[in-house]
Amino acid sequence: MRALTALLVGLLAPFTIASPSVKRVFAPGPYRAATNIYEIPPCGSLAHVGSKIHVLAANGTVIHVATAGAPTVGQFKSAVSRDLMDGWVAFAYFLNPGFSLISSFTATWEVPPLPETDHGQTIFLFNAVQNYSNTILQPVLQYGPSVAGGGSFWAVASFFLDGVNTFHTPLVRTSPGATLNGALILTGSSSSESIFNYTSQFTNIPGTTLNTSVPALLNVAAATLEAYNITALSDYPAGATVFSGINVEFASGNTKPDVAWRPVADTADGLGSTVDKDGAVDAQITVKY
Ligand SMILES: *[C@@H]1O[C@H](CO)[C@@H](O)[C@H](O)[C@H]1NC(C)=O
Ligand SMILES: *[C@@H]1O[C@H](CO)[C@@H](O)[C@H](O)[C@H]1NC(C)=O
Ligand SMILES: *[C@@H]1O[C@H](CO)[C@@H](O)[C@H](O)[C@H]1NC(C)=O
Ligand SMILES: *[C@@H]1O[C@H](CO)[C@@H](O)[C@H](O)[C@H]1NC(C)=O
Ligand SMILES: *[C@@H]1O[C@H](CO)[C@@H](O)[C@H](O)[C@H]1NC(C)=O
Repeated sequence: MRALTALLVGLLAPFTIASPSVKRVFAPGPYRAATNIYEIPPCGSLAHVGSKIHVLAANGTVIHVATAGAPTVGQFKSAVSRDLMDGWVAFAYFLNPGFSLISSFTATWEVPPLPETDHGQTIFLFNAVQNYSNTILQPVLQYGPSVAGGGSFWAVASFFLDGVNTFHTPLVRTSPGATLNGALILTGSSSSESIFNYTSQFTNIPGTTLNTSVPALLNVAAATLEAYNITALSDYPAGATVFSGINVEFASGNTKPDVAWRPVADTADGLGSTVDKDGAVDAQITVKY
C-alpha cells in the first residue's frame, strides 16, 4: 500500500529508444521504433503466449509473432510544466488499488474542430486503461501523423502498447462534430494464470475493435490529451474537449473503491484539465485548449 501512495503522476513517457538510427514515429505514448509496429487485420486479435505476443488473423492464424516488452516496475514521472510540452499535456486519471479489477471504462467525447494551423503536429485524445507506463490499451482519436498513418484530418483506431511494441487497428477517418464512444472492457480473466482479456473499441465505429490478452492488470484509467510537435497554441483545436458519460465498473466479487479523478495539465501553455463531475457513474472531465 505504501508504494501506491508514493506514486506520482505526470507524463507517462519514461521510455526512450536507445538507437538514434531507428526511425522514430508517433504513437500514443512515447516515441516508437518503426520496426515494432503491427497493424492488426480486420477482426484480428492479439494473444500473449509466454514471452511472445501473437497477432492473429480473423481465422485464428498467427500472422506475426512479437517479443513482449519486459514488464516495467514503473512509476509515473512527475509532471512538469513548460512551454509547448510533448506527451500527456492535459489529462485526469484514476489509480485503482490492485484488489479490484476494472471491468469496464467508457467515455464519450466529440471530435473537435480542425486546428487552425498545421505544423505537422500530432494530437491524440483517448480514454485508456494501463499498468503503469509500459502497457496501455486505448481507443484513440488522432489528428496528424502517427505510426498508424494519418494526416491533416481526424481519425480513430485502437492501440495496444507494451513498451516495446505498438499494435493498432487500421485508421478510420472521422470528422469534426462526430460523437465517439470509447470503451475498454474486461472480457475474461484468470488471476491464477495471470491472464486478463480486454477489448478496446469505439462502440459506434466498425473496424476499431482490438481484443488482446494481457499478463497484467490494467488498473489505471485515464482520459487524456497527448500532443507532439506543437509549435503554436493554434496547432490545438479551439475550445475544449469534454469527456462525458464516464463510467467505471469493477469485476463482481471485488471491493469497489471510491473513484476520484485526479486532474493534471500543462498550465504553462494555458491548457487545463478539470473534473466537472467526479466518481464512477456518469463522471465528466474537461480538457481545455
Ligand atoms: C472480441 O471479443 C468479444 C468479446 O469476447 C467478442 O464478442 C468479439 O467477437 C471479439 N472480436 C474479435 C475481432 O476478435
Ligand atoms: C487465414 O487468414 C490468413 C490471413 O488472412 C490467410 O493467409 C490464411 O490463408 C487463412 N487460413 C485459412 C485456413 O483460411
Ligand atoms: C517532431 O518532433 C520530433 C522530436 O522532437 C522531431 O524529430 C521531428 O522532426 C518532428 N517532426 C516534425 C514533422 O516536425
Ligand atoms: C482469453 O481469450 C482467449 C482468446 O479468445 C481465450 O482462448 C481464453 O480462454 C480467454 N481467457 C480468459 C481467462 O477469459
Ligand atoms: C499491474 O499488473 C500487476 C500484475 O497483474 C498487478 O499486480 C498490479 O496491480 C497492476 N498495476 C496497475 C497499476 O495496474
